[in-house]
Amino acid sequence: MRRISLLIFVALYVVSCTTDELPNPIDHQLQKRLEAIAPDGNLDYFILPSSEDLGKIPAGVGNPLTPEKIALGKMLFFETGLAKDAMKSSGEGTYSCASCHLPTAGFMPGRIQGIADGGIGYGLNGESRSIMNDYEENELDAQGARALSLLNVAFVTNTTWSGKFGAHHANENTEYAWDEENGNEVNHLGLDGLEAQNIEGTQLHRMRITAGWLDTLGYTDMYNAAFPDFPEHERYTHLTTSFAISAYLRTLMADQAPFQRWLQGESDAMSQEEKAGAMVFFTKAGCYRCHKGAGLSSVEFHAVGVRDLYQTGGFNTGPDDKRNFGRGGFTRKQEDMYKFKVPQLYNMKDSPFYFHGSSHHSLHSVVDYFNDGIPENEVVPEENISKYFHPLNLTEEEKEQLVKFLEKGLYDPYLERYVPEEVLSGNCFPNNDPLSRVHLGCD
Ligand code: HEC
Ligand code: HEC
Repeated sequence: MRRISLLIFVALYVVSCTTDELPNPIDHQLQKRLEAIAPDGNLDYFILPSSEDLGKIPAGVGNPLTPEKIALGKMLFFETGLAKDAMKSSGEGTYSCASCHLPTAGFMPGRIQGIADGGIGYGLNGESRSIMNDYEENELDAQGARALSLLNVAFVTNTTWSGKFGAHHANENTEYAWDEENGNEVNHLGLDGLEAQNIEGTQLHRMRITAGWLDTLGYTDMYNAAFPDFPEHERYTHLTTSFAISAYLRTLMADQAPFQRWLQGESDAMSQEEKAGAMVFFTKAGCYRCHKGAGLSSVEFHAVGVRDLYQTGGFNTGPDDKRNFGRGGFTRKQEDMYKFKVPQLYNMKDSPFYFHGSSHHSLHSVVDYFNDGIPENEVVPEENISKYFHPLNLTEEEKEQLVKFLEKGLYDPYLERYVPEEVLSGNCFPNNDPLSRVHLGCD
């Protein structure tokens, strides 16, 4: 007996000595774990390319990435001058794509819902935007779900929460649903999600894309530089505009986040607590089962039973809004009902309105929700809820570590590199209504 305990004592001593000798055992553990779950066994699976490294960024079908297209898209995305097809004259020239996808809010709206045409005000980070006096609720451009983040969107082959845009990947064999009712006939062009969606997007968001108007704003030369291969009569169109904006969006990588720097070998880029949180994310908490690859996203659809925007106070939406049905709203299949695309997880801290219905307002609350594993939306039938959504039994310490990983480890502090110095109209951006102009310091 005594001999055995002595042996155990010696063994423990040896083990503790060897671990002490390693500079930081958790780095080693985390690396091993990531290699184990990467399909190719390689850390590269989790690494975001730099926005400059165009050869490494996934390009869309028919839309190779060029610096000229990206430079053009970078301006058009923020160009309030395009807001020419507003519902009322008071809305003209006041909004842009970035009204709902704010760089300072992780390319999300900074409030429960984005408002473009008919919106007024900005606040510090989008939070003060509300409805213009002379607009009715049903005249607003406010969509029935929280705007998705556009970070790391190059990895999203099929866009929107339902994945309805894009002709390939998840949408193979869904041709029957590419129709007017789903508003995605554009899929018949055979493009990927981004390039397809953004053809529709400028129209949906009441922007004027004509050769004449683009010229008035000063963009003709930039289109000429970006699309020299397009005959002139096809050069200033919704298609080329989408190609330019999509090329820009594909460069929006959160590659300066501490977790990314750690993956590239900078072992002290993350604190001990963030590393522990990463371990929780990639082991016990099971987050990695759905949040995958470099963007920690996937073009897979799961129901985690969260509430819809009409239940949390959004404009212009209700129980019958097709967006509430997720993938099922697009495919019309019972088994797809209430399943939503798995979103990316970088820079979540900047817009504290989580899930498609903005039903949670802090990352602590999101972690508690997954840890409790109890669906909050009674409308969602139990059989549709993902089998990975169940109580996780995380300790208080593990929850805290997980939150730290999300808040800090997955936070790129330099997103201003994706914002242009100016747009060619010379307008204020991302918003240009009188109140936003004051908030943004343009007046
Ligand atoms: C009124 C607010 C609003 C404006 C303006 C807006 N968006 Fe969005 N955006 C949204 C919402 C809401 C979603 C999610 C829609 C859905 O799932 O049905 C979204 C989703 C997207 C997505 C899909 C991302 C993904 O991961 O699937 C892309 C791409 C996108 N928007 C690009 C743009 C571009 C480009 C513009 C300008 C032409 C624009 N948006 C203007 C609200 C807006
Ligand atoms: C069953 C697959 C699945 C698992 C497991 C999972 N997620 Fe998610 N996650 C999703 C889906 C799907 C959404 C979007 C749901 C919606 O809005 O309807 C989401 C949304 C989120 C969001 C909000 C993103 C946004 O844009 O609003 C965060 C943050 C998040 N998950 C973190 C986590 C963490 C942390 C874990 C582990 C504790 C986890 N997820 C586990 C599928 C999953």
